[in-house]
Amino acid sequence: MSKTRVTTTAAANIALVKYWGKRDGPGNQPATPSLSIGLDDLRTTTNLQFAERDKDQVEFEGSEKADRRIVSFFDLIRDQFNIEQHFRVATQNNFPTGAGLASSASGFAALAIAINELIGLNLSESQLSSLAMQGSGSASRSVAGGYMEVVLAKQSYARSILPARRWPLSVFVAVTSENQKAIGSTEAMQLTARTSPHYQDWVSSHESDMSDARDAIERRDFTKLADISEQNCLKMHAAIMTSTPPILYWNAATIELMGITRELRNGGVPAFFTIDAGPQVKIICPPDSADKVKGAIETINGIKQLIETRVGGDPTIESE
Ligand code: PMV
Repeated sequence: MSKTRVTTTAAANIALVKYWGKRDGPGNQPATPSLSIGLDDLRTTTNLQFAERDKDQVEFEGSEKADRRIVSFFDLIRDQFNIEQHFRVATQNNFPTGAGLASSASGFAALAIAINELIGLNLSESQLSSLAMQGSGSASRSVAGGYMEVVLAKQSYARSILPARRWPLSVFVAVTSENQKAIGSTEAMQLTARTSPHYQDWVSSHESDMSDARDAIERRDFTKLADISEQNCLKMHAAIMTSTPPILYWNAATIELMGITRELRNGGVPAFFTIDAGPQVKIICPPDSADKVKGAIETINGIKQLIETRVGGDPTIESE
């Protein structure tokens, strides 16, 4: 049954084995699978209702916005589910937007969940994940919390590998710039695929990274997960940096944070880093190392904000 108003939240996620590259055709179908953790406290809140006029209305952080990606997503919903209504959506993030902190992941996941509830589509979790993917590839992994993996198919989707409570690792998000990134992920992926000499190696080594990471999670083998995650992240950035023209997402604090994480690990404190399409560094550690890791991160200059969270991120839904 359809509702009149729905409020959802979905959490951002970070990939430990990353998605970078799309297959040809529509719908953000990824060239490679990926594996992620949900970030419990980094959330998008989305309020959705049917519009009174024959026009979609998008409000972002309290101001009306002509957002082409959201309106195209509504067009796709009308087309796929054969409905005529338009929507009014208000959305806000409790973390910096468009700066490489997966705001499109939490945003499109919260929206897909809200649409499912408002229209009463009764989609399964994998159908919901496929739908969110059509808004943003990484959003497919935010329709549930915890450890998620993307399965490649004609319509790819994400599924749960392990619930967060079974391995509740701590996560620090060190925001080193609050500016929007210079080049968005879709455009940067196309450039990398077209021009980087490392792109084919990136794609062909992916399956083995996926199985190593999955195995590390199933066995709760932190050292193995640390090694594979850092290597996969650096492989992605190596491909990105060697595009023509080159794309460099990092700044000085990004590099310092990678160094301090390595130092911690060499000194026996378990911790590893990962970095998405931006200069922010996420550092993951077991909860009993969190104080030491935080102390070390705080010695680095250039951190604008340090967010402490944990693996989690189950979505929430309220409706009237
Ligand atoms: O979903 P998009 O288009 O924002 O791309 C996400 C790309 C990375 O964050 C760099 C990697 C990933 O798997 O999330």
